[in-house]
Amino acid sequence: MTPIVVTGTDTGIGKTVFAAALTGALGAHYWKPVQAGLDEDGSGDADTVARLSGVAAAQILPNAWRLETPCSPHRAAEIDGVTIDPDALAPPSIEGPLVIEGAGGVMVPITRSCTFADLFARWRYPVVLVARTELGTINHSLLSIEALKARGVPLLGIVFIGEPHGENERIVPLLGEVRSLGRLPMLEAVTPGALARAMRDSIDIAAIEDAL
Ligand SMILES: Nc1ncnc2c1ncn2[C@@H]1O[C@H](COP(=O)(O)OP(=O)(O)OP(=O)(O)O)[C@@H](O)[C@H]1O
Ligand SMILES: [Mg+2]
Repeated sequence: MTPIVVTGTDTGIGKTVFAAALTGALGAHYWKPVQAGLDEDGSGDADTVARLSGVAAAQILPNAWRLETPCSPHRAAEIDGVTIDPDALAPPSIEGPLVIEGAGGVMVPITRSCTFADLFARWRYPVVLVARTELGTINHSLLSIEALKARGVPLLGIVFIGEPHGENERIVPLLGEVRSLGRLPMLEAVTPGALARAMRDSIDIAAIEDAL
């Protein structure tokens, strides 16, 4: 099965929450190759996905790189005195679906010569772009789509997160020539149950399964 990559138009827009919902819906494994910045208790996105997805702990794969500083991975690695080798960032081979989460947005550098978009271009796995619904998303989304397409990255679709915004949700897929997979609403409490329900009700999971 081909892995699915979850990337975003920005940092902090809901990639991990969507990746957790997708991991749960597919019964997938989850892998975040590069974690830059850890919470006070040493946890990162993988721990959030473990809590929210409902999959077995063994399905949450260890990061290839865990970097202390909450900044761009290329710089976080330099501060930690390590160099990430993009060629060595191959997804673990596992049975069944695998959800991979990037860090930050598509043009975030992993090294001084390689961005996440470049890495996705090497991999050629289908990519889901997560985008906000609010003001500013048209520009960020269309630029991200252009960057991915310019590198020949297969773009499976865009997932919006946030309050409904009909026009933004229409114009981005239209101008970006990309399929909308739906909009995950803002949840009052992000719990495993509420997230699984929102995913079932709002996202075209079948379209993602077709790409596996
Ligand atoms: N659908 C949602 N409903 C409510 N809160 C959400 C939703 N999606 C994301 N959030 C909240 O927004 C914040 C950022 O989300 P998340 O960590 O998923 O972003 P991210 O894009 O993965 O960030 P990073 O670039 O750090 O990996 C979190 O506090 C998360 O709980
Ligand atoms: Mg995240």
